[in-house]
Amino acid sequence: MTGAGPRPEPGELARRGLLLRLLAGLQGAAAILLAVPVVRYLLAPLGARPAASVWQRLCPAADVPPGATVALKYRLPQAEGFRVSSADTATVWVARRSGRLDAFGAVCTHLGCSVAWEVRREAFVCPCHGGLFSRDGQVLAGPPPRPLERLEIKEEGGALWVRPARGRG
Ligand code: FES
Repeated sequence: MTGAGPRPEPGELARRGLLLRLLAGLQGAAAILLAVPVVRYLLAPLGARPAASVWQRLCPAADVPPGATVALKYRLPQAEGFRVSSADTATVWVARRSGRLDAFGAVCTHLGCSVAWEVRREAFVCPCHGGLFSRDGQVLAGPPPRPLERLEIKEEGGALWVRPARGRG
């Protein structure tokens, strides 16, 4: 005796083979079903396009009178990384002087702290490392390597409108 059981009938072998193939098919289908959302998640950024940079209404024009420099919020036009959202906001400094409007991003070009307008010094000041920017956004002192980001701004229909740089995060 070899210890092996009775030999299966040919019909039983055929059923066993069919069940094994069916089981393998079900496993393959389950694997595909599980892989679809993972692949879609990984490939999503390739198909995503930066949101178009459009004019955004900031506030009534009267909110920034002549001589004033005011911090306002606007919506960021693009998401970061895999996250796609238009809910994020950023601060823009709007200045009206000598009949012209200027808009500057409030992010310091050194390490990204928020700058604030200081009336007494007539400059944008970064509290983190002493960065100092002129009323035109140029670097006056400290470690910032570049001027403040300038945003497009216009007055139309009694309101101020800003258009952020395309692709900014
Ligand atoms: S982050 Fe503004 S000076 Fe360093």
